[in-house]
This record gives sequence, structure tokens and C-alpha cells, in this order.
Amino acid sequence: MPLTRKAYRAALLHSLADPAEVGIEASYEYFADGLLVVENGQISAIGHASELLPTLAADIEITHYQDALITPGLIDTHIHLPQTGMVGAYGEQLLDWLNTYTFPCESQFADKAHADAVADIFVKELLRNGTTTALVFGSVHPQSVNSFFEVAEKLDLRMIAGKVMMDRNAPDYLTDTAESSYTESKALIERWHGKGRLHYAVTPRFAPTSTPEQLALAGQLLGEYPDLYMQTHISENLQEVQWVKELFPERKGYLDVYDHYQLLGERSVFAHGVHLCDDECARLAQTGSAIAFCPTSNFFLGSGLFNLPMAEKHKVNVGLGTDVGGGTSFSLLQTLNEAYKVMQLQGARLSPFKSLYLATLGGARALRLEDNIGTLQPGSDADFLVLDYNATPLLSYRLQQARDIAERLFVLMTLGDDRTVAQTYAAGRLVHQR
Ligand code: GUN
Ligand code: ZN
Repeated sequence: MPLTRKAYRAALLHSLADPAEVGIEASYEYFADGLLVVENGQISAIGHASELLPTLAADIEITHYQDALITPGLIDTHIHLPQTGMVGAYGEQLLDWLNTYTFPCESQFADKAHADAVADIFVKELLRNGTTTALVFGSVHPQSVNSFFEVAEKLDLRMIAGKVMMDRNAPDYLTDTAESSYTESKALIERWHGKGRLHYAVTPRFAPTSTPEQLALAGQLLGEYPDLYMQTHISENLQEVQWVKELFPERKGYLDVYDHYQLLGERSVFAHGVHLCDDECARLAQTGSAIAFCPTSNFFLGSGLFNLPMAEKHKVNVGLGTDVGGGTSFSLLQTLNEAYKVMQLQGARLSPFKSLYLATLGGARALRLEDNIGTLQPGSDADFLVLDYNATPLLSYRLQQARDIAERLFVLMTLGDDRTVAQTYAAGRLVHQR
């Protein structure tokens, strides 16, 4: 492959560490007039334009973005492909919402042509919103994952997905069996896990829709292949938590159900965790498991307020999730707008640098991919965005009043959305241009 080398000049911002661990000032790096050098799909240098420009070959192609901020690509640690067509479904909380809207919508993925069409819309929507990596739930049908990975592979995206395992407490038209879920997941792992930048996630939907036999086979799969992911839901809604107690009376609590079947670990991501207790957070931290914080969904489904300070106290890895279609936006900027309010309602603050961390490096750490994505450090995949300070008249005017990068960043996260993302690059390729 011929060497390709390109440079991008703009303001540059990325996280270096969790502000909760190192303080805000040491948590980020900002170049007001920066230069990002990309070679063969990876970042090879980052710095002040004045220092790096003289080191480059005279004929290198330089793209200069004015009034713009380059950040790492955003990371969505929890989203559902087959719920793209049901965002904004009226009136129900989790369990009724699943039965009334979600299961019928997901059943359409029995049709491969439908799965292909939605996968195309879904990936475009991720990229339009600046999301370059996502941890994705398919439907119970293996073709939902095939459709998604086929699109992601063509664009050389770093993506993680899995077929839902669900063998009880759901309509017959949408259930598998413990045995078929194992065999079908295995075939998908063999086909996709580790292909290019794709990874597979074993995906039991949540404890109520899996028999003990299915949960045991999910745990078995995790032991059979290296570096597999595990994704599921936990403690999102109080009725759901009560139901799990009734279904698994012999277990200490909700997390203990998953723990018993060996589903905790460094590549395990639990969505929501709104009603977790201290002991459960401690156990998540001890096993290196992560939580996907999904504020738009938690508001929309009336689930409750996620206690981020408690997760921080226990040093649990936390990423940000849109949870579309329980969540109401593909935009992680809009998700951060709501995350801020979740903290406000609990008398806490979410600094813009913690927000940046959650949407980038924090998500990468939750997925154990911090050597590849989540920052603009040399050696990382060249997955990055160009945020346009003049995306809307109000954003443009408001940012003229901003005194420093902290205020700029906070305003971008409050007013920003898909319109703010002017360009998205993945592995150095332009994959979205507004
Ligand atoms: N719990 C089990 N399934 C789901 C789902 O599809 N969405 C959400 N938000 N919670 C769930
Ligand atoms: Zn979900």
C-alpha cells in the first residue's frame, strides 16, 4: 500500500485522563492553532501548527478548517440498530414499552432486505452525528448483525455488535433457544470477530428474557474466544429490578445473576445501572466491567437518574450511550446536554472536560480500546471530527461571547447536535461531510 500522509490544521482538543482522577487541568490537551498529521489511517503527530509545519515535506496536503474544533471521534457505548425506526414511541415505561413498541419493531428484522436498509440508515446516522465507534445491539436475527457489519466493513469503521439472545418472556416470533442462540452467536463470531476493525459482543438482552441455560451458554461463549465483548442491560427500571428478584430468588441481586453466569469482566458493558447499589458498583469495579450511562433514555422512559459520583467513587469505568430507540437522539452532544441535567437534578456538576472524557477516552476505556481510539495521540486510529463553530446562527453568536475553550466546549455540548458535525473521518478517510 502506498504511504499516504495528510495534515489537518484547526483548533485541536482531546482528553488525556479522567478529570475525576487527575483534576481538570491535567485531563486534556488543547492547541488553539493545531496540526494533526495522519499516515495510513493512523495519527502520526499532533502539536502546534507553528512547530509541526516546518517538519513536514513541502508537498504534503494540508486541509485548513477555520472556526472549527477537531476532536476524537465520539464513542457510543450503548445503542440498538433495530430500534432506529421507533425513536420517540409515546407513553410507556420500560416493560410496557418493550412489549408495545420494541418487540414488534425488532421483528421486522426477520427480513434481510429490511435489515440491510436500516443498517445503511443507522450507520449514516452514526457518522452524521460524529460517532465513529458504537457498541451495538442487533435483533434476535443473525442477519441484523450481518447487515450492520457489512456496511461497517466497507467503511473500515471500528464497531462492535452482537445478536440478541432472548429465549423467554418475549413473543414467540422473536425468541431463540438457548442452543440456537449459542450456535448462531458462534457462527457470527467466526465470521466477524477480529475482521478488520470489527469486534463481536455476546448479547443476552437482559436477565428477564434469558433462561438460566441461555445465560450459562453466554458465559461459555465468552470463555471460548479471546477478547469477546459482553453487553446487556441492568437495573434500569424499578419494576424490572423487582421482576429479576422474582425470577432469580436464589441470587443476591440483579448484578449477581450476571456474575453467577460469568458475564462480568473487562469487556463487559452494562447499560443504565440507574438503581445499582454500592456493593454492585464495587463488584463492577473489581471485575473491570463498565457501565453505559444513557441519559436521554433514562429521562424518556422515566427510569431515573444515574449516580455518576457513586460510579466515580468506586472507580467503575463509565461510557456514554444514546440507547436509541429508548434514547431520543443519535447525537452524543445532545446526550451530554441531558447528562448535565441528570447531574444538576442531583446537586452535582458535570464539567465540560468530564463530558468530553465520557464521550471519547472514557468510552474507549470502557471498551478497552484506549490504545486505538478515544484520543488524538500518535499511534491511534485516525477517527476524528470537525466541529463547526458556525453551524447555526445561534451557536455562532453564542460562541463569539465565549472566553475560553472550557466555555466553548460547554456551549458546543449544550447547543450542538448533528448540524455541528461538519466532517467525520474514520481511519483517515472522510466518511461524512455535512
Ligand atoms: N432492557 C431490555 N431490553 C431493552 C431495550 O431494548 N432498551 C432498553 N432501554 N432497555 C432494555
Ligand atoms: Zn438499551
